[in-house]
Amino acid sequence: MLSGKQALITGSSRGIGRGIALKLADEGAKTAIHYYRNERAAQETLAEVRKRGSDGIVVQADVTRPEEIARMFRSVREAFGKVDIFVSNARPEVPAFFQPPAEITLEQWDTAMDSQAKAFLVGAREAIALMPDGGRIIAITYAEGSRTGGLQPWVGMGSAKAAMESLVRYLAVAVAQRGITVNAISPGWTEDSVLNTLPTAAQDLIRNWHQRGWTPMRRLGTPGDVGDVVALFSSHQARWITGQVVYADGGASLMNAGVPPEIQLG
Ligand SMILES: NC(=O)c1ccc[n+]([C@@H]2O[C@H](COP(=O)([O-])OP(=O)(O)OC[C@H]3O[C@@H](n4cnc5c(N)ncnc54)[C@H](OP(=O)(O)O)[C@@H]3O)[C@@H](O)[C@H]2O)c1
Repeated sequence: MLSGKQALITGSSRGIGRGIALKLADEGAKTAIHYYRNERAAQETLAEVRKRGSDGIVVQADVTRPEEIARMFRSVREAFGKVDIFVSNARPEVPAFFQPPAEITLEQWDTAMDSQAKAFLVGAREAIALMPDGGRIIAITYAEGSRTGGLQPWVGMGSAKAAMESLVRYLAVAVAQRGITVNAISPGWTEDSVLNTLPTAAQDLIRNWHQRGWTPMRRLGTPGDVGDVVALFSSHQARWITGQVVYADGGASLMNAGVPPEIQLG
């Protein structure tokens, strides 16, 4: 479905980004695997890409620094010549931004904003310059965080993702005439990702909550689930969908926060 296409996925050394890279490779796309500090994980992902019969390169950048994003795109241009699919997925480690409104430092706030809204603006502009007509730009968001206020220490990241989702709509209009689509995919809680870095007790609470019914499909997502959705949005068949924030969460976003799952599910 994607043979001849070339993709750059930020934060694809591990977690959801890795799942996206592997699914795009399954569909025949060449992939630029991006990492921040974990080169070994990026090389392992590239080895998995090659096992799937595709190929790619490894690139490094701190996405909070626009000049490093530009350098990353220069490497991709030298290796690939063009970018058909750009996925903005990287997100700093949780301690870099996780503080409630009264305590979040301005540095933490900037880290959240720079890594999402600004990095997406800079990355998308670089990508558009290398992108043939009909390309795909995809932001990975967490729309629960951008439209709710309960998880207080998420204020920085939630606000940054909200800005990124807004930018998706503006960019979608800007490049529509070229047949380039710009969308955001919003996964629910996902295994083999940042979740697995939380204390075991917190992981168990989250898993149980979703298996109990908060996710109607009764399980957490996987990086492969999200990767398949990105592959779908990268396909020719998705050419008429643009400017949307799409939940890929097994139905979790359909649940009513005012009523316990047992009552809602009957
Ligand atoms: N996990 C979930 O349940 C969930 C749910 C909804 C949405 N999301 C979204 O999905 C995306 C991926 O989340 P994840 O949990 O899979 O992430 P993760 O496992 O924590 O991986 C983070 C990735 O981002 C890279 N990274 C970290 N700091 C960076 C920086 N300053 N500059 C550039 N890259 C940096 C890391 O590179 P290194 O390996 O080199 O450190 C790694 O590849 C995020 O945008 C997140 O908001 C996640």
